Amino acid sequence: MPAQPARRGRLVTSIADLKALHQRRAPKMFFDYCESGSWTEQTFRENTSDFERLRFRQRVAVDISGRSLASTMLGEPVAMPVALAPVGSLGMQAADGEIKAARAAARFGVPYTLSTMSICSIEDVAEHSPTPFWFQLYVMQDTGFVDEIIERARAAKCSALVLTLDLQILGQRHKDLKNGLTAPPRPTPAVLLDLATKWRWVWGMAGTKRRTFRNIVGHAKDVGDVSSLMAWTAEQFDPRLDWAKVERIRAKWGGKFVLKGILDAEDARLAVKAGADAIVVSNHGGRQLDGALSSIRSLPAIVRAVKGETEIWLDSGIRSGQDVLKALAMGADATMIGRAYVYGLGALGEAGVTRALEVLAREMDITMALCGRRRIQDMTRDVLLVPRDFEGDWAAQT
Ligand code: GLV
Repeated sequence: MPAQPARRGRLVTSIADLKALHQRRAPKMFFDYCESGSWTEQTFRENTSDFERLRFRQRVAVDISGRSLASTMLGEPVAMPVALAPVGSLGMQAADGEIKAARAAARFGVPYTLSTMSICSIEDVAEHSPTPFWFQLYVMQDTGFVDEIIERARAAKCSALVLTLDLQILGQRHKDLKNGLTAPPRPTPAVLLDLATKWRWVWGMAGTKRRTFRNIVGHAKDVGDVSSLMAWTAEQFDPRLDWAKVERIRAKWGGKFVLKGILDAEDARLAVKAGADAIVVSNHGGRQLDGALSSIRSLPAIVRAVKGETEIWLDSGIRSGQDVLKALAMGADATMIGRAYVYGLGALGEAGVTRALEVLAREMDITMALCGRRRIQDMTRDVLLVPRDFEGDWAAQT
């Protein structure tokens, strides 16, 4: 996997390189949307800084030939245990962003999850993705809409339904309010000034018809302002979502079922009871409950509670292949990435998503070798040095 030039003269060697390029090329309001956490951003920051507290054990004079990152998720083979998480408004980071991300994931051999709040519709992505993808569902008050979108996902041959549980109400991200976030952006003087320096983005958008939330527009009834994610989550999302409704949705779907947004061991047990084939240990990238524990710090208690009863995946905070390996060594079966691939998309489109996946794979492969392990399944707890106080005193309550 040689490092590839992003374009003449520029070498992308890390996720940080892609992030810098994303910031330069995407409109400010969409880069900020990607990069924000809620309120003080404590949880957003700790999602990454807690990974830094974990260290690897360097091991030497071990045969490290023939290494493999191959694994499975939901019983299906994957090139590495890293799925692309659902990300709202992805088609605003780059034109047709969801189609580009789905294609890059399919070609790399990892799953892609399309968000309910996507710009490209389920049907748009199904038409262009070479392999089946997963569909992420937000539960709306309008059960007719929920039932219809589940049917649309089935008709599009989506191979899993990922139900997000931690966003029935939107966490406040200051920058989105200050930037007046909408999709498409409203042409205010500040936006026009910003777009004057983002000609690649403008050119891409001029060449696509996909500029609104196409899963919703023309499907949901009585939506006031569909260009504002904040307005319509407040109007439409079902605040009465409970475990009985989760089970209703599982029965309605009938296929592989993933519950995302589990951060507590008690909820992990309830998710298993509700029939989850996998749970995603996630605080929504620090975008929802500020002051919640980081995902990596929440993981051990959840692993003790439900390991072996469902697949345990971790998302929130992964910015490198080393982070993926740390999550696996701490007991996750697989991971999901969000920002790490969004940076790639905003920087270089489809090639940037591929580049992000290559960077992670390379970091995983080299780290595994230097830890003296050959298979991803061998990255067990004993490759790590974990501070004694890593979980914190409060974890003893679970
Ligand atoms: C939506 O999923 C968001 O975090 O904005």
